[in-house]
Amino acid sequence: MISYNEQTKVFQLDSKSASYVIGIFEGGYILHYYYGAKIPTGEDFSNMYYRGPQASFIPYNVEVRRAGYPCFYPGNAPMEYPTNGAGDFRNSALSILNEDGNTVTDIRYESHKIYAGKPRIEGLPSLYADETSAETLELIALDPYTRARVTLYYTVFKNLDAIVRSVKIENAGDKTFKVDAAASLCLDLPSMDYQWIHLWGQHCQERALSMTKLEHGTQMIGSKRGASGHFHNPFAALATNGTDEQNGEVYAVNLVYSGNFTISAEVDAGCTTRLMAGINDHDFLWEVKPGAAFQTPECVLVYSANGLGEMSRTFHRLYLDHLIPAQWAYTKRPLLINSWEAAYFDFDTDKLIAFAERAKDIGIDMLVMDDGWFGHRDDDYDSLGDWYIYESKLDLKRLTDTVHEMGLKFGIWYEPEMISPDSDLFRAHPDWHIHVPGRPATEGRQQYVIDFSRQDVRDNIFEQMSSVLDNYDIDYVKWDFNRNITEAGSALLDAEHGLEFFHRYMLGLYEFLEKFTKKYPHLLLESCSGGGGRFDAGWLAYSPQVWTSDNTYPIDRCRIQYGTSLCYPASSMGAHVSHKDAICDYNMRGCVAMAGTFGYEMDPRTFTEEEKALVKQQVVNYHKYYDTIHYGDLYRLISPYDGHADRAVWSFVSRDKSKALLTAATFQRTFNQSFWIRMQGLDPEKTYFCAELNLTASGARLMNVGLNFFNQLGWIGTAREFWFEEVK
Ligand code: GLA
Repeated sequence: MISYNEQTKVFQLDSKSASYVIGIFEGGYILHYYYGAKIPTGEDFSNMYYRGPQASFIPYNVEVRRAGYPCFYPGNAPMEYPTNGAGDFRNSALSILNEDGNTVTDIRYESHKIYAGKPRIEGLPSLYADETSAETLELIALDPYTRARVTLYYTVFKNLDAIVRSVKIENAGDKTFKVDAAASLCLDLPSMDYQWIHLWGQHCQERALSMTKLEHGTQMIGSKRGASGHFHNPFAALATNGTDEQNGEVYAVNLVYSGNFTISAEVDAGCTTRLMAGINDHDFLWEVKPGAAFQTPECVLVYSANGLGEMSRTFHRLYLDHLIPAQWAYTKRPLLINSWEAAYFDFDTDKLIAFAERAKDIGIDMLVMDDGWFGHRDDDYDSLGDWYIYESKLDLKRLTDTVHEMGLKFGIWYEPEMISPDSDLFRAHPDWHIHVPGRPATEGRQQYVIDFSRQDVRDNIFEQMSSVLDNYDIDYVKWDFNRNITEAGSALLDAEHGLEFFHRYMLGLYEFLEKFTKKYPHLLLESCSGGGGRFDAGWLAYSPQVWTSDNTYPIDRCRIQYGTSLCYPASSMGAHVSHKDAICDYNMRGCVAMAGTFGYEMDPRTFTEEEKALVKQQVVNYHKYYDTIHYGDLYRLISPYDGHADRAVWSFVSRDKSKALLTAATFQRTFNQSFWIRMQGLDPEKTYFCAELNLTASGARLMNVGLNFFNQLGWIGTAREFWFEEVK
């Protein structure tokens, strides 16, 4: 997978069908030569260093010029990990503030290592791989002035066109320096003819698709809210113009990080593009003492030569096999019913037991008690931080015992990173919330974020959670986070280290999650953040599922889940059926939720006999389709974002291609609605039977001729599922 040619000083990283080529150039410059469809090793790259215009305004390196390279300019060469202030005026991946007060940084190749497998990153979420599935290259470079030793990590996967990258910056000198900016990844591409694709959003409209033409200058998405956030997901892609689901070259990045980030694409005068991703360098300055090191989060880089569909399937497979905790990735998750939309804060023991009885009757596996069970919480004005049982409202022992006796599992809601001003914890520790002394602290949903960068704070919350989790039979925790960080500061950080706060918060959170998941490996963790405000690969390393959005209205959900599916697998998308409305029936709600984890968020006591029968059928379908949806491949066939905007069609195909679930949803009343769907991903040689269409057809026919839908989907707010099974 990874080769190094001593003569040409070229590294080639080959994955399933892609090659990534790096060269050590004159003077020790580390250059990026190529990333794309697989090429043979041993090609001549000696002229690849030149990509941009030459002029007196573009500085050069005198020694390299003397060595016989008059056309080498660091500012327009393809740099593998560009640094600040030494000839490259484009955006810098690395900038180090030295003791003299300047940020000039210049790294050159020193050595390298190639080995089987993949290292884990201490203190940060990271992908895992054994020695047969991946190989790693460590490229080590040195800035002789600051004596920053920089290790560029590349793990390449044998069967997936993905590379995981990260960077470590060690202080090998005797003077302290500060990391001012350190991207996880940089990729210099030789063209600007790309679409810039990313997922923007807001509460209840998360991960909407945006595709625009790349222009000169820097296009950037990011977050400085202390969380990846609802507003931009830490995912972006560059796709050659004209890319669709099946065609086009795509370079996609996804940060394995849940905090402040940026992803940018800069087009320079030479019409080349620099794609970069990492921690947001705004409000960031990290001290590295002699002998110490700073490690960036990981970033996943995916290449697809076959459009966005293949890109997504690569991410999905990678995350199932190498990121989501192994004990959950291929373990069937319980079908749950959540109390939130059914009761909000208005519940007691008997009401929840009644929910469980009805839920059991229709085949549900787990009852989740949402917000409102602790402190004295009956609304969202108090008690966050008081993680003890609200005893006058709830008898948790009786509830958990009764629910388990019925054969159901039981889950509970927490918002561990928050504190209400009206809480015992706040009264006892008025300096534990994130704030800047002397300034009023901004509230959000009547609450503050608690300072998870502090060990004492984390220990207190851990103990409080343990005192419930150790004493009651609990199978699942929903971990919520309902506001972002303002007045960022910690009482324990002095002025010299104030700008380390945001990343220290994340390190604290990850340390907590590491300890928590080790102590409670049987607990299924579902992350949440006011709906889908922290849906990122960092969280997926701990929680196999993430609540996708508070918006469960199926027409909106089709768009939200479509966007989310660009990067994240269906098995990670929390999706529930909630109360029906005038437009979308339970059937449509079921079909849309089925493209995620599936569950319910409603009062099961209110079902009519007819609805009960429908729900029972959905539960049967959930079991029938589970493996195909959770472990199969997704094919997006009609986008809810395309010109029609009145329908969405997708399918899941099992890995052995013997089964497929096709789902078609329609949003608007359209007379004589007629359209064709050509299926994808089937085996052309296999014959399939679809009972819903009473059709026997070859995979070749289903994919080439397709299926015609004429008014079959009903008028409005409906969806239908079509199940194809191989006929042997
Ligand atoms: C957030 C979540 C909801 C629910 C509430 C409880 O909004 O997204 O699902 O848990 O908090 O307060």
